[in-house]
Amino acid sequence: MLVLSGCMTVKRILNPLCRKTTISIGIERGGVTLFSPATNIIAKVFRFDPSNEKEGYLQSFTIKTSEPLSVMTILAKIHDLDPTFACRTSTCFKGQCGSCLIRVNGKNVLGCVELVHPGEEVILEPHSNFRIIRDVAVDFSQPLSTHQKNDEEKDQ
Ligand code: FES
Repeated sequence: MLVLSGCMTVKRILNPLCRKTTISIGIERGGVTLFSPATNIIAKVFRFDPSNEKEGYLQSFTIKTSEPLSVMTILAKIHDLDPTFACRTSTCFKGQCGSCLIRVNGKNVLGCVELVHPGEEVILEPHSNFRIIRDVAVDFSQPLSTHQKNDEEKDQ
């Protein structure tokens, strides 16, 4: 049995946009965190360059964190790790402009308000209603018809 003398910290993280609250528990001693239950998010991101690839694939990245991160933050961290990764950088981060639309675990969502927690694994793909420019970046000026979406899903 391991006994640690220190103080237990409880952080309450509230995302006001989606009203999700997360409790993060750790043990600290002298300002140093000795225990944190999970420290990684595994993100499997869609990679595809239509100019020289026939089909896309998923590439796995490990993001170190002990706190929940928005999908947009995860995409920015992946871009820092691999500058060839294409994604949109958005401006509002308030769930209002819609420029962060992305598919997370098969569901189309706003990336700025969707939180991923330490210990979770997510699949990040381009929004399914728009043509892919590269990786998870899509062309919002060209929405796909239902017929086109079905054809593209068959091709992948
Ligand atoms: S950044 Fe504007 S809705 Fe997400």
